[in-house]
Amino acid sequence: MSGTTAERTLVLLKPDAVARGLSGRILARYEDKGLRIVAMEQRTIDAAVADRHYAEHVEKAFYPPLRDFVTSGPLVAVVLEGEHAVEIVRALNGATDGSKAAPGTIRGDLSLSNRENLVHGSDSTESAAREIGIWFPGL
Ligand code: RTP
Ligand code: MG
Repeated sequence: MSGTTAERTLVLLKPDAVARGLSGRILARYEDKGLRIVAMEQRTIDAAVADRHYAEHVEKAFYPPLRDFVTSGPLVAVVLEGEHAVEIVRALNGATDGSKAAPGTIRGDLSLSNRENLVHGSDSTESAAREIGIWFPGL
């Protein structure tokens, strides 16, 4: 794939994805699209890591239950790389609310929830750089 601009993004397979045994199937969607795995680790995070990752949301009303959810069990953090990786992952993930996300997307096919929506994807290249620094500081 030489000649293409490699862009990186951070994906989380959230605790619902791991608990439901969907990690492999979700990861396969990204790989099938052509994105490459640069780093991957299963981890259970504490509130401090959740607060760093969701810095833009910590003051919002929906954040306390979101923090409880993302710290509730193991998740899988993944760095994916490929041309337009940020935008492509967001498209594959679908709309935030699984009950409204389009069929064919990960959330549209596999989630009915606005909170337990299986995946996170960085929303910009700047967010990706910040988030990769939190999850994989050695990269
Ligand atoms: P993500 O960050 O997880 O990729 O999702 P997103 O960009 O589509 O959505 P965002 O607005 O960044 O929200 C982050 C996560 O917070 C939960 N959420 N709950 N009203 C609510 O109850 C609510 N809104 C958002 C979801 O888990 C969402 O993915
Ligand atoms: Mg977001």
